Amino acid sequence: MDEPAPRVALVTGGARGLGRATAEILAKQGVTLMLVDVLEEPLRETRDALVAGGATCEMFATDISVRANCVAAVEAAVARFGRLDILINVAGIMKFHHATDVTEADFRRIMDVNCFAPFWLCQAALPHLLESRGNIVNVASQSALMGTAYIVPYSMSKAAVVQLTKSLAVEYAEKDIRINAVAPGPMLTGISEGAGIPEDMDFKKIMRYAGVRAPSQPETVAAVIAFLASPEASSVHGAVWTADNASSTG
Ligand SMILES: NC(=O)c1ccc[n+]([C@@H]2O[C@H](COP(=O)([O-])OP(=O)(O)OC[C@H]3O[C@@H](n4cnc5c(N)ncnc54)[C@H](O)[C@@H]3O)[C@@H](O)[C@H]2O)c1
Repeated sequence: MDEPAPRVALVTGGARGLGRATAEILAKQGVTLMLVDVLEEPLRETRDALVAGGATCEMFATDISVRANCVAAVEAAVARFGRLDILINVAGIMKFHHATDVTEADFRRIMDVNCFAPFWLCQAALPHLLESRGNIVNVASQSALMGTAYIVPYSMSKAAVVQLTKSLAVEYAEKDIRINAVAPGPMLTGISEGAGIPEDMDFKKIMRYAGVRAPSQPETVAAVIAFLASPEASSVHGAVWTADNASSTG
């Protein structure tokens, strides 16, 4: 009997942090990978490390804030591997600011990367995922589910990711595809590099969403993503799973 074809996953934000941790788990499961990121050198380093570990992995360096780049990334994965089974939208940016100081450029950039790009990637991937009976996992945030001071545009962008997930899931309810999201809490990654700390911030308000428990390692959140992307999660569709150590619970 023929072996089933390996599953092919496109992972955005694959250069580092949660995206890299997700790629490492999927590679161990034998999933073929197309990693997408704007940071070309870290992306190359991650790709090379995965290939050295035995994975089949390619990279596509691009800025997903541009719709055409999202389409090109999906097309590159399908052109290289002949199919697409899994789309994992991990790439994201965040910035701290007082609401009154948010510039139009900052707001648009955050929405382009965190909100518009996952939509464009889903849109481009859907025909291929319907063909392969595949699935999508979007990365939202605890910030989508609770009030989080000083990151209003980020929270808004992540709330949109939750609605992207739920609304697509209902639109495709009768089809053989699954669409889910993970909402992480704090993780020790590079996302806060350059996020800025404005003066006069009330740290008590930040501590309300910093959580009672220690920040998660990206690997533990990646394990939740990998499970949702796996055939074992066949009953899970339209779900937003928190992986935040109850920090959004209260
Ligand atoms: N770290 C946290 O505390 C935390 C908490 C909740 C949710 N999240 C979410 O988890 C996801 C992963 O973040 P992380 O913590 O691993 O941070 P990270 O900064 O380590 O990784 C994000 C990746 O996205 C890439 N990226 C950013 N803008 C891009 C663009 N325009 N085009 C292509 N790639 C781009 C970055 O280069 C980076 O490799 C993000 O969506 C983030 O919002 C993170």
